[in-house]
Amino acid sequence: MPHQGTTDPLAGHRRPDGFRSRLAFAFTKALRFVADSFFAKRYGHRAIVLETVAGVPGMVGGMLQHFRSLRRMKDDEGWIKILLDEAENERMHLMTFIEIAQPNWFERMIVLFAQGAFFFGYGFIYLISPITAHRIVGYFEEEAVYSYTQYLKQIDEGVVENTPAPKIAIDYWDLGPDARLRDVVIAVRADEAGHRDVNHALADAYLEPDRDAARRDVIRALDASPALAPARETA
Ligand SMILES: [Fe+2]
Ligand SMILES: [Fe+2]
Repeated sequence: MPHQGTTDPLAGHRRPDGFRSRLAFAFTKALRFVADSFFAKRYGHRAIVLETVAGVPGMVGGMLQHFRSLRRMKDDEGWIKILLDEAENERMHLMTFIEIAQPNWFERMIVLFAQGAFFFGYGFIYLISPITAHRIVGYFEEEAVYSYTQYLKQIDEGVVENTPAPKIAIDYWDLGPDARLRDVVIAVRADEAGHRDVNHALADAYLEPDRDAARRDVIRALDASPALAPARETA
């Protein structure tokens, strides 16, 4: 579900502290380097390929939390739905950007490979260390916010044409009929900032002595925060 971006999306860097977050941060920066080398400034193509990957962690994490709830016969405190919502939101990013740019055959091959690698790789990390897994997504999303800011800059400088927003995006984010690509990128960036904050908060909740209470606090904060609550539920 989309997020309402009422907080500054750029004001959210979480300084790595401890082994797991340093590992997650280093992993993110390594992948960022690969993405920068491959896509350079082709942000439309970058969005498509990376959004196909972005839709994986929420689904895998949601699935594993679902199984965990079954195994432990214990309620998930709303965690599963948050992760599945994240996956759905990322899929909608992809459905939007595929209306704006078309991937070439090589990029489609990367998508196939990346989905397999992420499904198994992220699932494995999540099973061993959910904290590291959520921290990785938190840092990925920090990078996504940065990349969409660069994309926005290109639109503002006229390097990328500010085309009319696709209908699917207007419907999803409830944009005006005259909305343009720029409005879409701002909405997507707000979503990424929301995922960033949620995933860092979920990683933090694991570190609390009373994990269940901490989870409930995260969910309650989500419900209370206009910046993070799903726009459709607060509309
Ligand atoms: Fe996304
Ligand atoms: Fe994302």
